[in-house]
Amino acid sequence: FSYPDFELQQKLSATAKAIVAPGKGILAVDESNEGIGKLLASVGLDNTENNRRKYRQLLFTTDNIVSENISAVILFDETVYQKTDEGTLFMDVLKRKNIIPGIKVDKDVVPLFMSEDEFTTQGLGDLAKRCAEYKNRGCKFAKWRCPLKIGERTPSVLAIQDTANVLARYASVCQSQGLVPIVEPDVLIDGDHDIERAQKVTEVVLAAVYKALNDHHVFLEGTLLKPNMVTPGQQCSKRSSLGEIASATVTVLLRTVPAAVPGIAFLSGGQSEEDATLNLNAINQVDMKIPWALTFSYGRALQASVWKTWAGVDANVKMAQQELLKRAKANGFASLGKYKI
Ligand code: 13P
Repeated sequence: FSYPDFELQQKLSATAKAIVAPGKGILAVDESNEGIGKLLASVGLDNTENNRRKYRQLLFTTDNIVSENISAVILFDETVYQKTDEGTLFMDVLKRKNIIPGIKVDKDVVPLFMSEDEFTTQGLGDLAKRCAEYKNRGCKFAKWRCPLKIGERTPSVLAIQDTANVLARYASVCQSQGLVPIVEPDVLIDGDHDIERAQKVTEVVLAAVYKALNDHHVFLEGTLLKPNMVTPGQQCSKRSSLGEIASATVTVLLRTVPAAVPGIAFLSGGQSEEDATLNLNAINQVDMKIPWALTFSYGRALQASVWKTWAGVDANVKMAQQELLKRAKANGFASLGKYKI
């Protein structure tokens, strides 16, 4: 085997580095049509292509200053082809703002047979072809999410091995087509487990993922990791302090993620907007020798207030955009450990 040729390596690592540039992170707007349908319903709108387009137009036409803190966005398939009211491709709107477009390429989960009611993520079949098409359209990176749930008997060895292998295969195909893979093993926050259990599970999962990435000869400098933070389960009665969450998270990452990886961009995973910002800030204040950029790749924690303020009403667009700017700025500071309430 050999790694991608030198020129491709340079391109992949330059893109990965640009995405995690100081003070910047990722806006994840890759909700599936089903996912965004629920959000549209919550503001009284039908799940039509035009309503999905109008909401995403609101995000992408936010003042250019947003790119001081948002380096990249993760899109869902149809968004790559959609245009503003004036007829400009969203892809061009983003490029003019100096925001790097990326694409969700997994096709969501299906049951993993003979597991403990767990899941596997589909989409490998035609992945190379789809990556080539998205690359052609101007996408520079991809993301693929594998969720794992913590329970008494989960995640099982089978589910962990499957996740590691699927993510590694995905990463390898992306790089072969010139896209930076964002590798997203998501140990879910649901459950009543404590932070110690979340820490151990996340550590075992990340160790398996990096072994598989190595087995598949993935060029780590041209990848990013999108993990969960290590927190107690949402239903756990024993809550943890910001400092405990931050040091558990960084400890796990130091034990498992090679320093060759340029950046780690956390998912928000159901945390509130403020919690996601405070936790990221605390993580960046941990007094340990940290070799990677630690930033955000938030979906819900960058958009909850936007949805609430927009409420599906045209006259609220400007105000909703202000909410996006506010969250982006707060998380930009948090990614430097400089956030103040
Ligand atoms: P959340 O930040 O809402 O967990 O979304 C992250 C994600 O996986 C979408 O790319």
